[in-house]
This record gives sequence, C-alpha cells and structure tokens, in this order.
Amino acid sequence: MIPIHRDLAAHSFYHLEHVGLQGKSCQGLACFLAREADPARWAKLAHDPAPVYCLGQCYQAPASHGNTTPPYCEVHAEETVLLGNVLAGGVRHLEHYQAGGGGAGLRQALALGPQAVLQALDASGLRGRGGAGYPTGAKWRKVAQHDTTRKYVVANADEGDPGAFSDRMLMEADPFRLIEAMLIAGVTVGATHGIIYLRQEYDGAAAVLRDALAQAYSAGWLGQRVAGSAHCFDLELVVGHGSYLCGEETAMLNAIEGRRPEARLRPPQITDHGLQGVPTLVNNVETLCAIPWIMQHGAARYAALGTDGSTGTKLLSLSSLFRRPGLYEVEFGISLRTIVEMLGQGVRRGKLTGLMVGGPLAGLLPPSQFDTLLDYSAMQAAGGAVGHGGVLAVTDATSIAELVAHVFRFGALESCGKCTPCHLGSPELARMATQAAAGQRGDGQRWRALVEALAATSLCGHGRGLAEFAQSIARHYPEELASCFI
Ligand SMILES: Cc1cc2nc3c(=O)[nH]c(=O)nc-3n(C[C@H](O)[C@H](O)[C@H](O)COP(=O)(O)O)c2cc1C
Ligand code: SF4
Repeated sequence: MIPIHRDLAAHSFYHLEHVGLQGKSCQGLACFLAREADPARWAKLAHDPAPVYCLGQCYQAPASHGNTTPPYCEVHAEETVLLGNVLAGGVRHLEHYQAGGGGAGLRQALALGPQAVLQALDASGLRGRGGAGYPTGAKWRKVAQHDTTRKYVVANADEGDPGAFSDRMLMEADPFRLIEAMLIAGVTVGATHGIIYLRQEYDGAAAVLRDALAQAYSAGWLGQRVAGSAHCFDLELVVGHGSYLCGEETAMLNAIEGRRPEARLRPPQITDHGLQGVPTLVNNVETLCAIPWIMQHGAARYAALGTDGSTGTKLLSLSSLFRRPGLYEVEFGISLRTIVEMLGQGVRRGKLTGLMVGGPLAGLLPPSQFDTLLDYSAMQAAGGAVGHGGVLAVTDATSIAELVAHVFRFGALESCGKCTPCHLGSPELARMATQAAAGQRGDGQRWRALVEALAATSLCGHGRGLAEFAQSIARHYPEELASCFI
C-alpha cells in the first residue's frame, strides 16, 4: 500500500490511542446486562475516561481484559463449515492446517479461474455476515470487473458489535482460513494487496495473526507466486485504536488511510472507488471464512444448508446470561425459541424479557416473537435483524428505559460526528433516555421527532441503526416506552 502519514486530526478521534488494555473492564452491552453479577465494579466503570466497549468475552460477562478462557463451542448444523478447527482447539501452524485439508479451497480456486469462482459464490447464496447481508458473489464481481492494476481486498475484523465474539474466535483459532480466503479473493478479483483491519481490543488475535502471516510468507503462500501460481499477493495487518465506527466500511478505509474515520458519502461505492481511490473489496471475517469450504466442497452443498434466501450456516455468540453461553454454528432457519431453550438452555437468573440478535442497533424482540426463524427476511419482518449474530438475553434485571439509555449513550459516544441528526441527535436522545431511566419523564413528541430525523437523514448505518433500535422498542414495548414520556 502507498504509505500515508497519519493526519493529525485523526488522533483525537480514538478513545484507546495510547491507552493500554491492562486492567480494563468491559462496558459493552453484554456486560451492562450482566452488571448485577458485580455491581461495585460496574459503578467504578462510570468514571473510566477511556471506556472499552466490548472485549469480545460476552460469554463470561462482566468481563475484564486478560481472561483468556475460551467459550463453549457447539455445531448445530448438518455440516460444520466454520467451527471445525475451533472445536479442535485451534490450528495455528500452517503445516497442521494443510494436513487437515487447509489449502484445498485455494487450489480449487486457482484451478477454476475467476469466472468460475464468481459463479460458485453466486450459486452458494452466501451473503455478507458483517450486518447488511449483501450477496457476496455480486460484490466480488463488481470489483473483478474493473480493469485496473491496483485494487485492494480488506477483511473487516473490527467486530465492534457488543455481544459478538465469533470473528475473534475464528482469528485466534483458525487464522489460516482467513488468510486462505483473502488469497482466494485476491486472485479472483485481481487484487495484489490485502489488509486485515483488526480492532485494538483483540490483542490476542493480533498476536496469532502476526505469527500466521509470518508463517504464510516463509512457506510461499504470500508474496510472489502465491502457492506456486503466477499470482502475487501481499497481506498486512492494521490494528485500530478503539472506535466502533471503524467497523463501518467507509470509516474503516479512512482509518487505514490515516484520516479521521468518518463515514464517507456514497456514491461512489467502494467497489469502484475505495481505499486510496481504487476498487476495493471489503468483507467480514466470517463471510470470508466460509469461502475456502465452499471452494473445497462445492456451492451446491453449501446452498443445501439453511433456507432459500439465507443459505449456509451462521455463527451465534450467546451471552453470559444464558445458562449455556458460548459460540454456536447453526443453520439458518432455526427459531429464536430453539436458540434460547435448546442452545442457551434458558437464562441463569431473572425473567427473560427480550432478545437482541445482531448487536445494539438490531432491535429487541420480545418472547411473543420467539417463533421467528433466523433468516434475513423473517428477522427483518419481525423488526429485528440477523446482524452480526450476537445473541443477548435481556432480563427483568434491566428495565427497558435503562437498556435504551445504555444503547444511546454508546451510540452517542461512537457517533463520528459527520452528520447532524446523529452528531447532535444521538446525545440528546441519550440524555432523554438517561433521565427517563432515572424516573424523570420526558417529552414524547420530541423523542419521536428526533428518532424520525435520525432514521430519515443519517448518513450511515450507525444513525439509522440507532433509530431502528428505538423503533423496535416502540413497536414491541409500547407500554414501557409510554411510561418514559408524557
Ligand atoms: C456502525 C457500523 C458498524 C459496523 N461494524 C462492522 C464490524 O465490526 N464488522 C463488520 O464486518 N462489518 C461491520 N459493519 C458493516 C460494514 O460496513 C460492511 O457492510 C461489511 O464489513 C461488509 O462485509 P460483508 O459483506 O462480508 O458483510 C458495520 C456497519 C455499520 C453501519
Ligand atoms: S450517522 Fe452518525 S456515525 Fe454515521 S455519518 Fe452520521 S454522525 Fe457519523
């Protein structure tokens, strides 16, 4: 990549720059919902000038940095697409990865050539797992069609959604799968350079990836003549400095370029004009990690899993309030009730009042909606989203007003400030919700007007997501919301 010096204006953006993670406790949503397990620690966190929102340990919330106990893992699908090496305890040496069949997907992609790989991705029905669910084959084709010498492939490893730890586990336990997927992406779309953009909070994953990249270079997997082919591909790791918004792909590209990580106006789409102005493919870690399996076992076998519009498997991160929290690979089409009762085995204390699937911006679904199937369309129709697959149990230990206040305080802190409805609206909504949680009823008309403005005029998915969360509360918890406002 052409080196760019870090813009001075970028420094003030990050809340973890020059701040170590040592001794930090997490203030993410899963830890907030589990705060009654350690109320004294939670009370102290209110004064932390550099808060950490999600350490990716939501299965053992309230969480602190340095606890490396892995989550319970289980597969609930006809085929194990993603978690094989995670269940084996991790594969961190390239020879072991290859001995277990790793590399077959890359060999198949090199043998097939770009057009056939793109057709296979279309046929697999794979959709992006980073939140938006965009068809992966269509996105790769948009980058591949550009006849330019410089293009980039970027893995979005920011996993900022509080409640999700699936990408962390994939990177820590199966780093070569991600590298193999990025090589397949590079040779298919015609990019010779890739970047893994990783959040600072995942220092364990950073260490594993650095070592894996070094192994891949010395074995000739990366660099000139990739795996003995005519292609060359360089891959580097870029570590962030603490910002949820850097998970939004245009903000992430600005961050990599050394600019303030504010969301960019679209069009142009980044598949045409992305990193340093050239066509760029951005995919989430979990999306990428499914691709070696699809190449090795065939698109039809992948498409046979799940439902018609939501094929394949999805990783779900179940939070600590479940009796059996952990990382689950499931087929699309499983019901929320099965997730709660069979996988999570119910909640360990209190009464379950709702389920947040897919992070804080994805909405809250009450028990009356638990027959909804995990499927992109079905979740959307119910007022939720598949999102990134974090599954947070909300219990009666947290009132709806307290939950809304926490989500909006998080949303306001992470707003990039580029557009007014989110820059000014989210702190005002956070203030109103915080007052309501403290028993002071606010102006309901003003609340609704601000939420409407956020939904209709926000520049990126952060503001729109906050509005969708507020709208799902209005739809499913009207009485609780009415009690907050006059
Ligand atoms: C506020 C915000 C935060 C996001 N955070 C992430 C993230 O942490 N990881 C991720 O893969 N995608 C995240 N996304 C989605 C990305 O912008 C992008 O759609 C995704 O990385 C594309 O990859 P996919 O097609 O494989 O899903 C976020 C989007 C928004 C609006
Ligand atoms: S919606 Fe919020 S995060 Fe997105 S561009 Fe506007 S201010 Fe930035």
